[in-house]
Amino acid sequence: MGGMEGPIRVLFVCLGNICRSPLAEGAFRKLLRERGLEGRFEVDSAGTGAWHAGEPMDPRARKVLEAQGAYFPHVARAMTREDALSFHHILVMDRENLKEVLARFPEAKGKVRLLLDYLGGGEVADPYYGDLQDCLEAYWTVEAACRAFLDRLEGDGTLGPAAAGGA
Ligand code: 4NP
Repeated sequence: MGGMEGPIRVLFVCLGNICRSPLAEGAFRKLLRERGLEGRFEVDSAGTGAWHAGEPMDPRARKVLEAQGAYFPHVARAMTREDALSFHHILVMDRENLKEVLARFPEAKGKVRLLLDYLGGGEVADPYYGDLQDCLEAYWTVEAACRAFLDRLEGDGTLGPAAAGGA
């Protein structure tokens, strides 16, 4: 997995795929653009639930991403077994997501992790019942964790020797 072969496939997962995982996907896509790494990755997001499938992201999430220059077109969808098989990294927002993904898709074992593990632990609070400020705070949290995740991939040689700083 990884190395110089195919793209590194990263999937962000939350409950509804309209708030937290689109925020994380937007933040991660922006980081990839900033580092010139878009071509090395395939990035997507999904929800453990399908209630919002086919809908655009929450208007607050859209507003926050637009303000950060991180907006991207998004249509919510539910996670599938194919996702569990084909993504290298499945980064979830809270323990309920983790439990749900592992219970429904045992294939995800070993690839699914709490996103905030890269930031010392914890869960991304659900801003769905909150306001714009909660959404903005969720963005900063997932952005910092995405940065730490990408730093890790660059540091451990996953992106190849050039990205790791020579050798
Ligand atoms: P998300 O937020 O998991 O961050 O997308 C939620 C979206 C919808 C619902 C709950 C959380 N809902 O209950 O419909």
